[in-house]
This record gives sequence, C-alpha cells and structure tokens, in this order.
Amino acid sequence: MTTSAFADLNALRDAATRELDAAVDAAALEAWRVAYLGRSGKITGVLRGIAAVPADQRRVFGAAANEIKVALEQRFEARQADLERGALSALASDAIDITLPGRPVDMGRLHPTTIVIREICGIFQSMGFQVVEGPEVEWDKYNFEALNIPKDHPARDKWDTIWVDANKDVEGRFTTLLRTHNSPMQARVMETNQPPIRVVVPGKCFRYEATDATHESQFFQVEGLVVDEGVSFANLKHTLYEFARRLFGGDRKVRFRCDFFPFVEPGVDMSIDCFKCGGRDPACRICRGSGWIEIMGAGMVHPNVLRNVGYDPARVSGFAFGMGPERIAMLKYGIDDIRLFYANDIRFLRQF
Ligand code: PHE
Repeated sequence: MTTSAFADLNALRDAATRELDAAVDAAALEAWRVAYLGRSGKITGVLRGIAAVPADQRRVFGAAANEIKVALEQRFEARQADLERGALSALASDAIDITLPGRPVDMGRLHPTTIVIREICGIFQSMGFQVVEGPEVEWDKYNFEALNIPKDHPARDKWDTIWVDANKDVEGRFTTLLRTHNSPMQARVMETNQPPIRVVVPGKCFRYEATDATHESQFFQVEGLVVDEGVSFANLKHTLYEFARRLFGGDRKVRFRCDFFPFVEPGVDMSIDCFKCGGRDPACRICRGSGWIEIMGAGMVHPNVLRNVGYDPARVSGFAFGMGPERIAMLKYGIDDIRLFYANDIRFLRQF
C-alpha cells in the first residue's frame, strides 16, 4: 500500500465534501448519503476493502478511512440541519394563518333592469306566459307595417327611428332599423304560431331622441301578447291589474285611460300612482305633478294586425301590452333619473 490508496481516499473525501456542499434539498442530500455512506456507498466500500491493504498499513489506513467517514457523517448532519432550517424559514415566510377570516371576494351583482325584467317575466310565467326574444335590428315590415302602420303614415312620428343604412327599397327608403319597441315580436310570434298564444318579450329597443330624467335613447321593454278565441278587454284588465298587484303590492293604485296605438283598438295606457310625491308636488320630476306615472301601453290587438299574419279576426281576438322595466325599476327603488341605468356608475350599481 501505497500512497496511491491514501491519495484515492483523500480524493474521495474531497469529492464527497464538494458534492455534499452542493446538495440543495432533501432529495439531493439523501442521494448523496446513499452514494457515499449507504450500505453499498463508496466510503462503506473503502472500509470493506480494508482486507486488501497490506497488514502493516491496515491500522493506519483503517483509522484514516474511519476518520473520514465520521467527519463526513458529521458534515452530512450539519448540512441536513441547515437545509431543514432553510426550508422551515421559507415555510414560515409564506405561511397562511388559517385562523384569520377569509379575504372578501368582490362579487358582481345584477343590474337593476335585469332584476326587474326577471321579476316581470316571472309573474307572467306564473300566469302561463312563455318568454321569447327577438332581434334588435328589425325590418320596417315588422316594426311598422305588420302593426298597421303603413309607410309615410303620420303615426310613425310616435317612434323616432334610428334607421340602419344597410338596405333600401325601390323608392330609396331604408328598410332596416333598430327596433323602436318590442311590438314587432307580436307579428313574428303570430306568423310562426297558432293560437292560443301567451308570450312576453323582454329586450332592448332604441329611439332617436334627446335624453332627460325620464327618457333614454336605448331602454328595455317587455312586450306581451295573448291571442285566443274569445279574449276580451276584461281579460286584459284583469291580467294587467293582477300583474300590477303582484309587482307593486295590493295598495298601489292603477289607472287605465284611453290612448292610441295603431296596432290596438281600443288602446289604453296604464298608470300607477306616483311613488315620489303621491301627487302632492306640482313640480315633481317624475309625475310632473299629475300624481300618475304611465307604466305601459296596452289594448286589443287590431283586426288588421291579425289579418296581416293570416289570422281570422272573426274567429280569434287578443290583447297586447308593452312596458318599460327601467321605469318600473324607478318606481320600485325610488330612482329619479333614468340616465343612471346606463351611466355605469359603480356607486349606483352597488346598491342593488
Ligand atoms: N309598443 C308600444 C310602445 O312602444 C307599447 C304598446 C305595446 C302599446 C302593445 C300597446 C300594445 O309605445
């Protein structure tokens, strides 16, 4: 033996030390332990091979090898302790205190218009109505003509129209528009269905007009249509009164007055008593001192409208109504300016 056996031993110690210092986690540390100190590890191998060392050097070699083994074991333990401490402090630094209350999650909420539309449709659904929807970009044919409003008829002035610059007829007039009300769905529903019909139609409509506290250029409507044999004005009144009672409670006053819409005959408007001033403030911004707020138009479906979709007015009759959910939300929540619905002011929206 040989200096080279000693040199090998020292080289082994140096390599072992270097690798141990480079181990950065528990897995690397364990791999190192197995490689050097394990049962078939390199140091263990050296000690096992001691028999091959010439007898006169065995004692010195054995002592040296053992010393290295003990030193590496100590260094291993120290390194292990170091790594554990590091891991613990890392844990401690991003620890979660599970006893603390959770951080609040910012919840979205429904827009007041959505709340009211769902409530309105829910009431009618409970009375056997179906909910259907139609297109916001509509043909003149459905928005006006099918509803007994011919081209160039003065009644068109009632709905200031936003025309869509896409299609023109032979006379150069626009034929598409943003629907000015949801009544076109009356014609669409009747065209594709046979009585009995009971539908409500929630959806957006558009008018070319200046905005103020009670007018917007875009707003929602919920349209309703009932067609069957023997439907009478008494059915209209009962249905809408029952609706108002369920939506506003039994103590709300309701009023029907004559009104004109080309697609109904007779036509009415239905009003509700003013929530804001109760009719006592002549300068009230909501009812303008009248004490009443109109919430919908209604009437018996005009025979021409029935004829236009191929129904026989001698056999079937019906009633229709249309209301503005924003106006109803204003009543229910005491909102005094319709423009708040589209201002996207989070302080307003958070109140619902
Ligand atoms: N469509 C009418 C409007 O927007 C409302 C209405 C609907 C009136 C149905 C009568 C019957 O003004």
